[in-house]
Amino acid sequence: MKKYIPFLLFLGTIWCSLAMTERKATTVVNGDTPVWEVLRGLGEKAPNHEITVLPKKASTEIGRRIVHFGSAKSVRQQSAHFVCTSCHNTEKEFADLRDNDPQKRLDYAIEHNLPFLPGSPLYGVVNRSSFYNGDYEKKYGALVEPTRNNLREAIQLCAVECSQGRELKNWELESVLSYLWTLELKMEDLKIPAENYNKYTENTEDAASLIAEIKSYYHEDSPAHFVAPPEDRKAGYGLEGDASNGEYIYKLSCLHCHEDQRYSMFDLNDGKLSRNLLAKHFPRYSYYSSYQMIRYGAPSHPGKSAYMPQFTSEKMSNQQVEDLRAYLTKK
Ligand code: HEC
Ligand code: HEC
Repeated sequence: MKKYIPFLLFLGTIWCSLAMTERKATTVVNGDTPVWEVLRGLGEKAPNHEITVLPKKASTEIGRRIVHFGSAKSVRQQSAHFVCTSCHNTEKEFADLRDNDPQKRLDYAIEHNLPFLPGSPLYGVVNRSSFYNGDYEKKYGALVEPTRNNLREAIQLCAVECSQGRELKNWELESVLSYLWTLELKMEDLKIPAENYNKYTENTEDAASLIAEIKSYYHEDSPAHFVAPPEDRKAGYGLEGDASNGEYIYKLSCLHCHEDQRYSMFDLNDGKLSRNLLAKHFPRYSYYSSYQMIRYGAPSHPGKSAYMPQFTSEKMSNQQVEDLRAYLTKK
């Protein structure tokens, strides 16, 4: 028996190396594979918000609690007014991530019973490379610059400016980021035909165009355009409103924050009283005009009071504002 040992060892070594090379060659890309894993396999540089080691107190679970409930156990609430999910969904918001059309976004929200919110979804945020795009630069000025290509800075800006809260401690920030990595895009989220998957596993010269191909299936940024209220608020945006669409906007958007004073002191419900109040002020040049609120939001006072974020044209179209008006004014 003894004399066979070297031979067996030899066989073992061969088997091991075969198994290893085989594992490399069969690196599979399927629907569950994270998009970043595929991109990295093709040689794409890791993003600067990658986490290599989590600091001691940090964990993904703490991050999840901060995002959804505003606190990680004993630490005081990140913000007295909001949690991240007051304004951001943690689900995907389009069936096809190349879309940006607010009506498709609403249709998807209706179908999946999601709120219709002013912020971009946190789902897939780690797959973006630029933040607070477009007109947000006008709103927050120099504050936006460091966040432009830095997700950590973007989170901190939102913690202080959007949430009107305090800055996250480093271990809280890393926890939030770690949770956001659990919301990264998977291959099945993209409308890439599955038969294309094979070519992403090959060691090819043309990796750069494969990377570009994959990225063409989603947005690496969230475009943002501010819109003004209509000049003549009586006439509105001059579009015929669809009350049934407006009902969804009222319920999935306005009531998300205003029902039972969930995130705002201004209490609204689906009763006649609330709807009449909003309907009456809609065409006025007053603080309570929904044109005013939707397009400009309510002003923020750092660290003091809750404010209402405005909706960009990507998050609510003029047509949808008229749909809301039609619902509220419906007899
Ligand atoms: C009161 C509403 C509100 C709250 C609360 C809020 N945000 Fe935001 N956030 C926004 C808005 C509005 C934007 C800019 C529009 C957008 O998301 O594209 C934004 C932008 C961001 C961005 C950049 C997204 C992008 O694609 O440009 C990140 C990241 C972010 N917020 C994270 C958070 C986190 C984490 C929290 C909780 C600590 C939070 N936000 C709380 C409203 C809010
Ligand atoms: C992300 C949460 C959020 C969403 C969504 C939201 N609001 Fe608000 N809204 C607020 C907050 C916060 C205020 C500031 C009032 C306060 O102090 O609580 C406010 C203020 C207002 C006001 C001014 C009244 C006042 O007392 O300040 C009106 C009118 C209003 N919202 C209408 C709407 C309508 C219509 C919608 C749906 C299109 C809507 N809101 C969606 C959070 C929200």
